[in-house]
Amino acid sequence: MGAVMWLAAAATAASLMCLLSPAAASVAYDHKAIIINGQRRILISGSIHYPRSTPEMWPDLIQKAKDGGLDVIQTYVFWNGHEPSPEQYYFEDRYDLVRFIKLVQQAGLYANLRIGPYICAEWNFGGFPVWLKYIPGIQFRTDNEPFKAAMEKFTAKIVSMMKAENLFEWQGGPIILSQIENEFGPPEYDQGEPAKNYVSWAAQMAVGLDTGVPWIMCKQDDAPDPVVNTCNGFYCDYFYPNQPYKPTMWTEVWTSWFTGFGVPVPHRPVEDLAFSVAKFIQKGGSFVNYYMYHGGTNFGRTAGGPFIATSYDYDAPIDEFGLLRQPKWGHLRDLHRAIKLCEMALISGDSVVTSLGNSQESHVFRSNYGDCAAFLANYDVKSYARVTFNGMHYDLPPWSISILPDCKTTVFNSARVGAQTSLMQMNWIGGFSWESYNDYTTFNGDLSFTTTGLLEQINVTRDITDYLWYTTYVDINESEGFLKGGYYPVLTVMSAGHSLNVFINGQLSGMSYGGVEDPRFTYSGNVMLRAGSNTISILSASVGLPNVGEHFETWNAGVLGPVVLSGLDDGWRDLTWQKWTYQIGLKGETLNLHALSESSEWGEADPKQPLTWYKAFFDAPSGNEPLALDMSSMGKGQIWINGQSIGRYWPGYTATGDCSPCDYRGEYNERKCQSNCGEPSQRWYHLPRAWLNPTGNLLVVFEEWGGDPTGISLVARTVGSVCAYVSEWQPSITNWRTKEYGNPKVHLSCEEKNITSIKFASFGTPQGVCGGYWEGSCHAHNSYDIFEKRCIGRQSCAIAVVPEVFGGDPCSGVMKSVAVEAICG
Ligand code: GAL
Repeated sequence: MGAVMWLAAAATAASLMCLLSPAAASVAYDHKAIIINGQRRILISGSIHYPRSTPEMWPDLIQKAKDGGLDVIQTYVFWNGHEPSPEQYYFEDRYDLVRFIKLVQQAGLYANLRIGPYICAEWNFGGFPVWLKYIPGIQFRTDNEPFKAAMEKFTAKIVSMMKAENLFEWQGGPIILSQIENEFGPPEYDQGEPAKNYVSWAAQMAVGLDTGVPWIMCKQDDAPDPVVNTCNGFYCDYFYPNQPYKPTMWTEVWTSWFTGFGVPVPHRPVEDLAFSVAKFIQKGGSFVNYYMYHGGTNFGRTAGGPFIATSYDYDAPIDEFGLLRQPKWGHLRDLHRAIKLCEMALISGDSVVTSLGNSQESHVFRSNYGDCAAFLANYDVKSYARVTFNGMHYDLPPWSISILPDCKTTVFNSARVGAQTSLMQMNWIGGFSWESYNDYTTFNGDLSFTTTGLLEQINVTRDITDYLWYTTYVDINESEGFLKGGYYPVLTVMSAGHSLNVFINGQLSGMSYGGVEDPRFTYSGNVMLRAGSNTISILSASVGLPNVGEHFETWNAGVLGPVVLSGLDDGWRDLTWQKWTYQIGLKGETLNLHALSESSEWGEADPKQPLTWYKAFFDAPSGNEPLALDMSSMGKGQIWINGQSIGRYWPGYTATGDCSPCDYRGEYNERKCQSNCGEPSQRWYHLPRAWLNPTGNLLVVFEEWGGDPTGISLVARTVGSVCAYVSEWQPSITNWRTKEYGNPKVHLSCEEKNITSIKFASFGTPQGVCGGYWEGSCHAHNSYDIFEKRCIGRQSCAIAVVPEVFGGDPCSGVMKSVAVEAICG
């Protein structure tokens, strides 16, 4: 960049500083980076959504994020959690936003507050309270006065709350950035003029709130100044901000993808994730945020979708239960250390890009003080490349980037994972002994009414419950042919979603459901009608309200019809416009069974029946390992512990999709690396320790399909064993604070457990993968001894991968590696 442009950028940064700050701006930006207290920064951030874990888990999650090399914690603000009914605000417990931000501050990290208040996030209704839909004349996310008034009121409320608690950076707090709206670019493109007005209004409104820190808009190419437009995606190296004086920021680096009921579980290989981040930094990006760094759990009925699973694990570096996902967490930590070693060079100016081959490049950054950092990239999907850089040779695996903080030493390569792998286990603790209650009650006092025709479900329930009963009657003439045997009439029900059970005269007749691709479905099944009056009852269930799409506030759920009976003597009968009786919710919900330990309702009702409530008591297991319920014997329903909702479960919906083996090389998408095909999308349900008492915990399960509760068990999640495979040439940093790059080391850690034995150890040419290593032709005979002596009885150990440690070179002239698997106990 020429001197003149530098000046221009500096002048813009200076004027932005004035624009942004109520006092002296401490956070600003220029074309290169976010500037904190006058210093450009390369910032590594990660999303942790506070309501997706318990406050008791927050300090540990934040600490693990810090240890993983993060500078910033990013979170959305969850409007429907904070304002469940108009002006009735809630900021307690999992929704204690101030406490969460203060914990981020105490850990010495910054915060990025994505206020939205539309947030998408696979969260029920994209974060909007359902009551918002019923404000007269409202249309969401467009130039609509009632909507804008509500959005401004909530946004201003959050900003003033943060100010009152001194949480913005200029007040001494951690918040350095805030976001308004979320990915409005694509819908704006479809909607035209009103949408454009809405965007400029939203930007002006936000800036007018005087937060003193920059505002961002993600996926919003026309974000008005001074708002910075940012990128979301699996890769963002193609991205440029809309003005030359704005920094290049990536607000959602998707660490994988969310899980839906009925679909396989996505995984993103860390080699590709690290490659995408390195590629973004080498092209001049200065802010990356992992979405998600800890995904957590959609407790209660907070999952959006429809059909978003209760687990929001996201294959994130910290797993749903708060344990490190290895090697993902460790390899990213190594990446962050390498990037931080380059920070001075990276913030100084633009890189010089040189081609090193057909698909190879170097990106070199220099500062005026002599710092030099280089990124060497090999974009070839298949082949290794040997490149020459500054007169030296470098080997680059396919689809990888090496980082050289001194322009000489490779301290990191995105495809060479030195961090340990942890094999996790779900250890069986015990089963339960159940009492039960059958809930087939279609009429229930005030919550039932009768009308002509079929009603849309959300408008009736206002989403206070998943369930709505639709009941009607059919008279069958004694002369009907089917009564003589041989066949039954067929009932066809068209539903807008999301699932239903059909009961004929109180007996379950069948069920059906939609899926992530299309919530709508048609139920069709034989019905055992008898002569005279018959009751047809349909229990329609919603499975999370939409969180994304055009005008999703107008989307429907429930039985919208037609409902038709065919196979009668005079052909078919349309039941759509009959009288239907509605009941909002279940009898058990009205009785509060989920929290009732003693009640005359509980007894020995028929087990394995549909619509059955179960309760059991249990004592908390000792220790502090995260707990889960194995629900694989069940069909579909909900779980509560001591009155708190764990969420919806649905192991009866097995995943269909492609689970073929996957390779990190080549462009990733959310369908590329999947597991659980042919199995439940989610089998284990997180039971937070904080929700347990030492004894007498009340577990309640409501089962819709007739699953077998005797198969439910309590399990503890632990690290079973840890592995590492580290070669003599593994790039490594001995001490990143003092910038020492020495011999690579094997690091093993059982987290809170101890290493109890060494299952495998070999220095030489070992083969295989974690859980299945074997010795190669070269093997140092004391490999086991070394690891046993230095590791057993300890939580962690580190051993250098050099011949001296293993009593000499077992095969000189050969590149050697260590493979080790240690058992944690
Ligand atoms: C993004 C959105 C996030 C989340 C993500 C998918 O487009 O901004 O809120 O929904 O997709 O997990």
